[in-house]
Amino acid sequence: MTHTNQAFATRSVHAGERAPRGDFTPVTTPIHPSVGYVYDSMDDMDAIFGGQRQGYVYPRYGSPTVTALEVAVAELEGGEAAHAFTSGMAAIHAALLAAGLQAGTSAVAATDLYGATYAMLNQLFPKLGAPARFVDVSDLAAVETALDETRPAVLMAETLSNPLLKVADLPALAELAHRYGAQFLVDHTFASPYLCTPLAYGADYVIHSATKFLAGHGDVMAGVVVTSAENRHKLYELTKLVGGNLGPFEAWLAMRGLKTLALRMRRHCDNALRVATWLAAHPKVARVNYPGLADHPGHALAGRMFGDRGYGGVLSFEIAGADQAAAFRFMEALKLCLPATTLGDVYTLVLHPATSSHRALSPQERAQVGIRDGLVRLSTGIEDAEDIIADLAQALAGE
Ligand SMILES: Cc1ncc(COP(=O)(O)O)c(C=O)c1O
Repeated sequence: MTHTNQAFATRSVHAGERAPRGDFTPVTTPIHPSVGYVYDSMDDMDAIFGGQRQGYVYPRYGSPTVTALEVAVAELEGGEAAHAFTSGMAAIHAALLAAGLQAGTSAVAATDLYGATYAMLNQLFPKLGAPARFVDVSDLAAVETALDETRPAVLMAETLSNPLLKVADLPALAELAHRYGAQFLVDHTFASPYLCTPLAYGADYVIHSATKFLAGHGDVMAGVVVTSAENRHKLYELTKLVGGNLGPFEAWLAMRGLKTLALRMRRHCDNALRVATWLAAHPKVARVNYPGLADHPGHALAGRMFGDRGYGGVLSFEIAGADQAAAFRFMEALKLCLPATTLGDVYTLVLHPATSSHRALSPQERAQVGIRDGLVRLSTGIEDAEDIIADLAQALAGE
């Protein structure tokens, strides 16, 4: 059931719930761990296997709790259908394959993608015969040149890039991709459907590491791809062969997280803006990357795409003159902000991109992208902003 005339906060509470199931309806979708399903008639089973009837036969083909999550995320992203995976990386891999990246084709992708995505496109796919050209997607002329010269199967970008928080011009990139015959894939993990829905801007595949804001509590790993029903069928056929489907317990946790997505995102955005503003005025901070700051190159574009909803919960900053040791010292001195390798949680988290999320890049590649050793990524939690700032202040005082 879709509720597209309702506000995002309302839909995030109810989306995907209460699928028709007999003579009673649980308010929240139960966890269905069953691997097998039985039907009175083998004809029913046959029709489900054949795709003529909706139903369940085996979890690699789909299962009810996972379907509920898929319906919910598809609804929040304004898509026809979604497919859930065991992780964001599994989702990205499947989406690239479904979009046609295979031997003899190629990709054009943003230079500052999440490290593992960059490595997948820079190392794994080239070995399989599908190379990638990387471009700064904020330079639309460079994107067009790359598309024109390589005629790739896919163009891939992140709405808000990790960890430099560059803003991708989704409508312009979608138009360019389609003009040159490419599918446009958007990793929307940092922004979430709270800020905008890339399908409305022309994207073909919207991908989430649901491990982050969608689930939101740092207790589940999951990935979701939202796309057309036709493309979803390609993902289904693929996972029937290779697996990677999300499990029902994780789907249930992710769905529970979704209900507070609007509340959490509002708070993440408010906290991030306050922290970024404070950091930008700090004498020991050389640079703050946050699109909510008026001097960020993507500020106006983010305003156009996100309206008045905010600029996301993640920022990054460079400690003036800091090398890796100084960045580590700062992170160890924090008492409230947790130096844990994730983002988008209720907890405030810090990470050192050069040695974690972007470790797979060579030092030269990191330098090219602009990820220096003094760079720290901060994902603001939903704590009180003053407490986050006080913790950063005491840790910076030691630098
Ligand atoms: C932007 C982005 N995309 C994808 C991923 C991969 O997601 P997962 O860790 O759920 O596989 C991450 C992980 O940090 C990420 O930050």
